[in-house]
Amino acid sequence: MSSPSHRTHPLPEPDAASAARSAEMLARIRAHIDRHGGSIAFEEYMRIALYEPGLGYYAGGLRKFGAEGDFVTAPENAPLFSRCLARQCAEILDRLGGGEILEFGAGGGAMAADVITELHELGCAPARYSILEISGELRARQRETLEARAPAARGRVRWCERLPARPIRGVILANEVLDAMPAVRFRVAADGVRELRVGWDGTRLHWVEAAAPPALAAAVAELQRDLPQPLPPGYTSELNPMLAGWMQSAADTLAAGAMIIIDYGYPRREFYHPERRDGTLMCHYRHRAHADPLVLPGLQDITAHVDFTAVARAGTAAGLRLAGYTTQAHFLLGTGLDRILAASDPDDVRAHLALTRQVKQLTLPGEMGERFKVIGFTRDCDAPLAGFALRDLSDRL
Ligand SMILES: C[S@@+](CC[C@H](N)C(=O)[O-])C[C@H]1O[C@@H](n2cnc3c(N)ncnc32)[C@H](O)[C@@H]1O
Repeated sequence: MSSPSHRTHPLPEPDAASAARSAEMLARIRAHIDRHGGSIAFEEYMRIALYEPGLGYYAGGLRKFGAEGDFVTAPENAPLFSRCLARQCAEILDRLGGGEILEFGAGGGAMAADVITELHELGCAPARYSILEISGELRARQRETLEARAPAARGRVRWCERLPARPIRGVILANEVLDAMPAVRFRVAADGVRELRVGWDGTRLHWVEAAAPPALAAAVAELQRDLPQPLPPGYTSELNPMLAGWMQSAADTLAAGAMIIIDYGYPRREFYHPERRDGTLMCHYRHRAHADPLVLPGLQDITAHVDFTAVARAGTAAGLRLAGYTTQAHFLLGTGLDRILAASDPDDVRAHLALTRQVKQLTLPGEMGERFKVIGFTRDCDAPLAGFALRDLSDRL
């Protein structure tokens, strides 16, 4: 996800309809807070703000992606991303002698459209492309995008609300899905770990510190064991309590093939670095990035960075083999970005310039190239993957 300006000015005022919608969301959150004795876990707040049917950020009719929305993701803004990813899928499908693709959280549907089109052009179309999307509104958007943009997808795509009952042979994809999962927020205190919850102070939502439930205290103790020094008092951060369960069910869905996850984040030692003492929460509203998830509930995106050490461990604990971990730039170069660029005709000035703009956006360190990482897992498909051939940073996890 990319958003050009960080918050230095007040956020833009929502229009009247959006303000009314956010007020309705706030009323619902306050009712939850009242029912739970004055505060709710941040994880619950984030779930309601993003996914509450009809009102949540991902579950209502807001324009999220693109210029009129709040942020852009790599596939929405740069089809080159999906073309390279498709080439990684082609390598895996070829090894398996064919297969299918399952994408989690397909957003506006651009990645699905472009991956299917590229695979079709490579003569390697998947037998089926399934999309598991928890937002009904986004499912409808994805249908429209595929219809308009990917004739090759016709008849091949199906949507599911839960994981397929029968494990697949093929590739599982998830771009910017883990960062959108509800996170738990904690603060280290001199006498232990506190949970940061969300309450109402009579005027606005505010943070409420409470004793950490045993599971959270144990999870923080576990991550501290991996750090070179203890987290100092006052240190505030997040963790993703859904991750292990999600990885296990995704892994159980893969009979043979690979799982490729792309997101922004760090290995654990960098994620919980002493300098990152306010955590990694990031919100996006009308292309402004800021760190206050308690404003504009339902109107803004809320994300937490990904602890890729936790992802690697959850994947291997779920029975998968870690195939590699690298930056988005190295993954895209390994899967053919330079070859796609070399094949572009410089005399077709418009198309060539558009492609070079995408290369810059996807690979430059100051853009998406290094902030975004790619992690891959395999099952019964163990030859090295092209995406990790140029540079594998698994030893940093
Ligand atoms: C930031 S958007 C990314 C969309 C898209 N992958 C892209 O790159 O443009 C997050 C997406 O993940 C979906 N999502 C969040 N949690 C999910 C889960 N547990 N299973 C499936 N989808 C999920 C959201 O509904 C949304 O479509």
